Amino acid sequence: MSSSLLAFSTLLGLAAAVAKSCPASSPISCQTTGTIQNTCCTEVQGQVLQVQFWDSSPATGPANSWTIHGLWPDNCDGTYEATCDSSRAYTDIGCILEDKGHGDILTYMETYWKDYQGDDESFWEHEWSKHGTCYSTLNPSCYTNYSKEDELVDFLNTTITLFKSLPTYQWLANAGITPSSSKTYTNAQITTALKNKFGATPILSCTSGKLNQIEYAYNVRGSVANGKFIAVEPTGTSGNCPKTGIQYVPKDLSTTPKANEGSCS
Ligand SMILES: *[C@@H]1O[C@H](CO)[C@@H](O)[C@H](O)[C@H]1NC(C)=O
Ligand SMILES: *[C@@H]1O[C@H](CO)[C@@H](O)[C@H](O)[C@H]1NC(C)=O
Repeated sequence: MSSSLLAFSTLLGLAAAVAKSCPASSPISCQTTGTIQNTCCTEVQGQVLQVQFWDSSPATGPANSWTIHGLWPDNCDGTYEATCDSSRAYTDIGCILEDKGHGDILTYMETYWKDYQGDDESFWEHEWSKHGTCYSTLNPSCYTNYSKEDELVDFLNTTITLFKSLPTYQWLANAGITPSSSKTYTNAQITTALKNKFGATPILSCTSGKLNQIEYAYNVRGSVANGKFIAVEPTGTSGNCPKTGIQYVPKDLSTTPKANEGSCS
């Protein structure tokens, strides 16, 4: 056996369960024409959106950070399938992470993936069953040595990994855009500040003129579990913020709900 083959098989031996590795030449999602040949290596709903919240009242998460809403699949045109496999609508996600030795992912989620009513676990279950079960590249059939819920861990891990690479609060602050109860900002100011860092136009959403959600669009080469995410201009979806007078209000931390922490059996 050649040494490189040996190194390769050693690597495989160490991996308990892995999404099948995909050829580096796998077609990039949303950038192919015709039928996708390998739905484990090219995401079918391949416009992947990392969605973030700015919850000010009730407030969630740290005062100087946006929080995670989710990681949404999209059919490359603004439409999407939802709730794709009720047999994999897992519950007790926090306990699953602990059981599988991923307490680090759970700890991060407990800080940054927050429900506005304090029901973090229910929120994670909702995001997983509604959106996570729809990724073709996270289908159990795409795994070598699959054990139950492996694809859930990949979904959560990819979501937090992308979120860490998208520090919206910092990016805005560096451009002089900070939460204020009196100042307002233009759509162009916010969009430009984020686009300069992300590399593509973010989708801004407002409620009553207050900025409260941002979506970052990607296409993916390979699996959502471990593929390469490429920032892209969003297709078929756009925000609803006004051109001017956008408020970005400070979080009122006195309104933060108490988290309902479950316990694992
Ligand atoms: C899958 O499991 C078999 C048997 O336990 C093992 O020999 C093999 O190396 C595993 N493959 C991967 C990719 O982990
Ligand atoms: C999480 O994703 C990152 C980036 O793809 C990877 O380096 C890391 O090994 C993953 N962790 C787990 C527990 O899968």
